Amino acid sequence: MNPNKPLGLTPSMGWNSWNTFTWDINEQLVRDVADLFISEGYKDAGYEYIVIDDCWSLKERDENGNLKADPIKFPSGMRALADYVHAKGLKFGMYSCVGTHTCAGYPGSFEHEFQDALLFAEWGVDFLKYDFCFKPRHISGELMYKRMSLALKNCGRDILFSACNWGEDNVYQWIRESGAHMYRSTGDIQDHWDSIKNLTLSQLDKECYTGSFCHNDMDMLVVGMYGGSNNDFIGSKIGGCSDNEYKTHFSLWSIMGSPLMIGCDIRNANQATKDILLNHDLIAINQDIEGRGAYRIKPEPQWFHSDDVFMLVKVLTNGDLAIGFFNLSDSQRELSLQFWDIGLPYASGISLSLYDCWEHKELGVYKERFSPVVPAHDCLVVRAKLVN
Ligand code: GAL
Repeated sequence: MNPNKPLGLTPSMGWNSWNTFTWDINEQLVRDVADLFISEGYKDAGYEYIVIDDCWSLKERDENGNLKADPIKFPSGMRALADYVHAKGLKFGMYSCVGTHTCAGYPGSFEHEFQDALLFAEWGVDFLKYDFCFKPRHISGELMYKRMSLALKNCGRDILFSACNWGEDNVYQWIRESGAHMYRSTGDIQDHWDSIKNLTLSQLDKECYTGSFCHNDMDMLVVGMYGGSNNDFIGSKIGGCSDNEYKTHFSLWSIMGSPLMIGCDIRNANQATKDILLNHDLIAINQDIEGRGAYRIKPEPQWFHSDDVFMLVKVLTNGDLAIGFFNLSDSQRELSLQFWDIGLPYASGISLSLYDCWEHKELGVYKERFSPVVPAHDCLVVRAKLVN
């Protein structure tokens, strides 16, 4: 293990094939993504894992019971692909499942956990997403995640363990102890505003469980998809979002400490998409080394606002605060933050110097309160510094 950056210290950042490509994956796509990670600045921004999701294998194991990569999609084999990704200074991720089959019907790792972990290590895998379909009913999911965690931790290679049980069985109550580095807390995201909003609202009271070495994964990002997916459920028939909605989505995932796994086709990313995904001020908040969850505050006057209008405050390592003003409602709102509510009484004489993390500019120094007007489905994220 690299002692300088232990696995899972901060939320993972990378790209995953599922949201856009589902079954239509191949080694050239993975190589293209790796190349773009370098040439377009994703690696410099912190993205490192390139993850192949479901549909990479043959439908049967080989005569020794090993998983086999589909030779049409991956003719050079997984080891060669991992080598390609590693040569770029990036990390390589793959996918399997707790059950007898993956969700798309390929072989799962049930009763092959230790064998598969060794194979993944041999192939040079650095990240394993572990899904929840076809789990035999008589066995608890909790036990299955403990089992694969043990297999991965003893396979001879550092492999980040990304559990994906969609938030079933109150996963947040036991997943940290199981050894997983991140855990999906929700059902599948869709490339649609309502999905982003509902996933967010479902996790607002779970922020106390996320943190270093075991991060609440609110699912892969849909930023930049614009409805472009060959999965009807995720995108193509659903419609996509506006750039402002993608910006709000990225802000929520960043400040709530979710892994940032890109789900769009970065080969065709437009400038708006790149500006969102490569926003270094938001990424710095997400990757803050203490890895604290964010707490929620209702804007004043509290009786006036619905639950989809709120502020999130994340305490950062250097004493700054990241503060997001989120308006997930359908009409413009003023979100008034009283500094008293974040531990800053007027009598202290201390003000906040605010920096806008989307416009990348200083907003000035404020005392006692700050009350931005935020359009519908939009947000303002500031980094606040205490000043005398
Ligand atoms: C789902 C999972 C998705 C994707 C898909 C593959 O269960 O939540 O993120 O991995 O399976 O079939």
